[in-house]
Amino acid sequence: MKKLYITTAIDYANGKPHIGHAYEKILSDAIARMFRMQGRDVQFMTGLDEHGQKVSQSAERAGVPEQTHCDGIAQDFKDLCEKLNISYDRYIRTTEQEHKRVVRECLQKLHDAGDIYKADYTGLYSKTAERFVLEKDKVDGKWPSDYGEVVEISETNYFFRLAKYQQWLLEYVESHRDFVFPEFRAKQVLEFLREPINDLCISRPKSRLSWGIELPFDSNYVTYVWFDALVNYITGAHYTHDDFHDYWPANYHVIGKDILVPAHSIYWPIILHALGIEPPKTLLTHGWWLVSGEKMSKSFGNVVNPLEFAEKFGADAFRYYLMREMTVGQDCNFSPDRFAVRYGSDLANNLGNLVSRLLNMAHRYCDGTVRKVTIHESPEMNLQKLWQPAIPEIISLCNEFAFHAALEKLFQCVSAINTYMEERAPWKLAKSNDASDAQRIDTTIAIAAEFVRIAAVLLMPTMPSIAERILSALGYGGELNWTTAVEFGDSLAGNVVSDGMILFPKIDGE
Ligand code: ME8
Ligand code: MG
Repeated sequence: MKKLYITTAIDYANGKPHIGHAYEKILSDAIARMFRMQGRDVQFMTGLDEHGQKVSQSAERAGVPEQTHCDGIAQDFKDLCEKLNISYDRYIRTTEQEHKRVVRECLQKLHDAGDIYKADYTGLYSKTAERFVLEKDKVDGKWPSDYGEVVEISETNYFFRLAKYQQWLLEYVESHRDFVFPEFRAKQVLEFLREPINDLCISRPKSRLSWGIELPFDSNYVTYVWFDALVNYITGAHYTHDDFHDYWPANYHVIGKDILVPAHSIYWPIILHALGIEPPKTLLTHGWWLVSGEKMSKSFGNVVNPLEFAEKFGADAFRYYLMREMTVGQDCNFSPDRFAVRYGSDLANNLGNLVSRLLNMAHRYCDGTVRKVTIHESPEMNLQKLWQPAIPEIISLCNEFAFHAALEKLFQCVSAINTYMEERAPWKLAKSNDASDAQRIDTTIAIAAEFVRIAAVLLMPTMPSIAERILSALGYGGELNWTTAVEFGDSLAGNVVSDGMILFPKIDGE
């Protein structure tokens, strides 16, 4: 059966992970988890981009061989994934033998077909973007800041015939509206394709850079960065093996907007097409995390260490903040103050308090046992009326990758459970001797517990360990899929719940 194959960009092995890397993995992980909960067979891959000049230079600065340097960085990134609860199925590294073999096989195939040729070239090279750029790429007469230093280079290299397939790609992008998500970004791709494009330089003479994959048809040259890096997606899909089409085409390449044009939307589909392989279905393109309006990146040094936030507040709180604040596709400012507000009001006061009060009340008034719902009066009906349509709405927002809106809606529903408990006030009902008030208490606890359970099931992709803790406190060991497990019922009836739980502790000084 065809898997739902989702990938992230592979990170450059030239520095420590920062919030942009953390976000991309968290977003992809939430998507992977969400599809698993909808019964899909998901293959989720992330990894490391280890060749090229920048990596070679940072190894030199660290005074270690390139491979040793990359091994260390790979460990840093895998640690990040573990701390952030990233449920990847495969971690790919471009220095793997299997990947090098696939790259060389692709190069040979394209060379044999006449799509790779040797030529002299003089051009302007961006060391940060690791590609040749053109005068027309300047904005207001200046190079964009993410190009870093731009220098003139003159050398003999191998080139891949991009221009030959330009017309094919233009038609492809025009007729596949889901190729770029969000759709407004397809405009940039089409603009690029309506101007003449240059062939792609895919080699470096070893005399200048040796940290790459040797060309199969000329041992004086290596390939590196884009030709090497993009191919990771098919290496991870078992290209040249029998089960390639269980994985390919990829359903989602999750990438940042800086590598959409030209790398993922121009180079990659054309490389694939020339190899006789279908393009990926969707380039899911997110925006940038900014610090005081500037892109957060290694090259600028304004790096927020994601691990500090995750360590201090918990990985799930950090995941929640990133997913709640950013609209997928737009930029977003990273703000420690906003983080504190989200942590305090959404998580500690709304969700955390609700769970803690619910468990305490269950013990104080119901011997810790969830009983059955027997009362259907207006407080119960109002809560139901809010929740019932919200559940499918939240799921469909997630399916459209509008996680920020889905979480907003979900937390409104959580807040409504708090309001409902205030209205029912079991502490007042407990003073009555009326038997129907005893039933009202049981009902309050049972309904609140059931909606908290559903909230946890819906929170799972964003906050997997918090959701698990909530479900286990409720004694829920049932299914976790987004069809049956989000139906209101009495799946908790008879369960004895945990006696209190603090999900989001107060953090000193925050
Ligand atoms: O580009 N906000 O690697 P990389 C959000 N190796 N996302 C950000 C970001 C920010 N401030 N900064 C970076 C590369 N990213 C190549 C990819 S794929 C075949 C090769 C995102 O380490 C960035 O957009 O510079 C990219 O998707 C990912 O982090 C890795 O960036
Ligand atoms: Mg980058």
